[in-house]
Amino acid sequence: MKIDIITLFPDMFKGPFDMSMLWKAQDLNLVKIRIHDLREFGLGPRRQVDDIPYGGGPGMVLKPEPLFAAIESVKKTNPKAKVVIMTPAGEPYKQSTAERFAKLDGLILICGHYEGFDERIMSLADHQISIGDYVLTGGEVAAMAVVDSVARLIPGVLGDDSSSSDESFSDGRLEYPQYTRPEEFQGQKVPDVLLSGHHAEIEQWRQQQSEARTRERRPDLLA
Ligand code: 6GU
Repeated sequence: MKIDIITLFPDMFKGPFDMSMLWKAQDLNLVKIRIHDLREFGLGPRRQVDDIPYGGGPGMVLKPEPLFAAIESVKKTNPKAKVVIMTPAGEPYKQSTAERFAKLDGLILICGHYEGFDERIMSLADHQISIGDYVLTGGEVAAMAVVDSVARLIPGVLGDDSSSSDESFSDGRLEYPQYTRPEEFQGQKVPDVLLSGHHAEIEQWRQQQSEARTRERRPDLLA
């Protein structure tokens, strides 16, 4: 999968994609990530990318021309990609969205800043997404969350292909508690059932724990 990211802060992506599973995914050529500086598409000698909002109000709005130019340019090298605008006003991003994105040939993620995008940019968007009900200073951290959550679903990226199917959200429940050695740590013991070797009982305990935890923390998932 080809992932292109358009941003005013390309340096923010230097660390995160060069580590761990995202590095491995790129090393294995399963994911190709390219970062593009929106400033290069800015207007005039000052490479202007933003302007004051029509109608007044605080902050600056990203102008349409640089965004159109950047998206058109990137589309040439990632022609089948879906264009995704990162915005707190978007639709909620979920595991199910990640699963759909992981099947695509390409993604072009657009990170905004300031008060937002000129609305006319939305005519180029296939999706507008938000990663949660809080406001970030820009779309970069959200784009990283999308890239991470999508990349790990691409076959071959995780060492063990089953490790993404048994976890929180893949069946609409939160994951059950996990333990490893030692059997007792600072007075806290591993539940007996996990030491019992009874696979059916362990499975039943895990399902009960998942359900109780989901009811307590995320009743919206059960509704
Ligand atoms: Cl995608 N962008 C920004 N700026 N803030 C957010 C967000 C995105 N998702 C949640 N908050």
